[in-house]
Amino acid sequence: MFETLKQLPQDPILQLMQTFRDDTRPDKVDLGIGVYKDDAGKTPIMASVHEAERRLLEGETTKSYVGPAGSAGFNESMARLILGNSNSLIRDGRTSVIQTPGGCGALRMAAEFFRLCQPDTTVWVSTPTWANHMPLLGGAGLNIREYPYLNRETLTVDFPAMLETLEGAKAGDVVLLHGCCHNPSGADLTFEQWQTVTQLIQRKGLLPFVDMAYQGLGEGLEEDAAGLRYLAGQVPEMVVAASCSKNFGLYRERTGALMLISATGAINTAATSQLLSVVRSHYSMPPAHGAAIVETILGDDALRAGWQSELRGMCERILGLRHAFADALAPLGDFGFIARQRGMFSFLGITPEQVRQLREEHGIYMLESSRVNVAGLNDRVLPTVASAIRSVM
Ligand code: LMR
Repeated sequence: MFETLKQLPQDPILQLMQTFRDDTRPDKVDLGIGVYKDDAGKTPIMASVHEAERRLLEGETTKSYVGPAGSAGFNESMARLILGNSNSLIRDGRTSVIQTPGGCGALRMAAEFFRLCQPDTTVWVSTPTWANHMPLLGGAGLNIREYPYLNRETLTVDFPAMLETLEGAKAGDVVLLHGCCHNPSGADLTFEQWQTVTQLIQRKGLLPFVDMAYQGLGEGLEEDAAGLRYLAGQVPEMVVAASCSKNFGLYRERTGALMLISATGAINTAATSQLLSVVRSHYSMPPAHGAAIVETILGDDALRAGWQSELRGMCERILGLRHAFADALAPLGDFGFIARQRGMFSFLGITPEQVRQLREEHGIYMLESSRVNVAGLNDRVLPTVASAIRSVM
């Protein structure tokens, strides 16, 4: 059965991670995969996560199944984190959250759910978008259409082009939006632009689907969710895929959440039962550990305050690096967009050949598209990276 299969190329982001690991040069710099790094170039376990794990290990009494929806406590906490503590959508029973294996699990279960609701669903994704959006959504059999998002000259959002293309979407189509920290461009919608897109979504009867993978790493937990919350308050239905990989640093624990917002509580109950049957037929139940950590942190005032302060520190560090990087590149042209963009990523706007030279000649790793993970920089490597970029430009 297997002999007809052809060797596939690896996912470009994961391939780059492997090539970086295999590189034996001691001064190599990883600006590739989207993983937060501290000043020492390490991806630390957050202190709040360590403490929650210690408590869990001490207090855990069973490894019995959690059920397809995962932990009710985690789900409730995630609803409040995403929508805000006192959001009336939660009070009115119009929301449900299920725990998923990472943000990827949430995205894929959403895609399977869309196909169940409407077998010929079309989902509109931004150009560019995260490399794994296409396989996750297309793999579930959805039709994928693209809307222009980034002006490649200015590396800013091309909002008129986005709106013009979305005017061509038909009622019932799904529009995927990045909640904050657009991956790969770092170019986010302003609040006014969220309002305008919301109007278009309402007028055309589209279903908004928000990928919230970086809440807290753009400007702050509340600020990063402002557009999503506005949209959620205006539309009858919406879907949110959230990840705890970056803001809790739980990458390998595969911790995420999928939220459904429905027009009424009764519709939401029925829709959630369908979603849970999709889960049961895919992976049955999510892994427990990462979600238990998040639930422990968000359910304890002191731990939560500690986590928020750690996350604030990560966010501020990225903002500081963005300014320092833009300043260091200023002699080469206008890189001010790096300081204005948010989250881990920005495009440098250099060619694949220049990216290759940086990797092979200088040991500096970034995606072929020139997407850099700004969080991979630090005071020590920044001057070297800037001068290497200067030398290839
Ligand atoms: C990235 O974009 O680098 C991250 O989201 C990691 C991944 O799985 O691709």
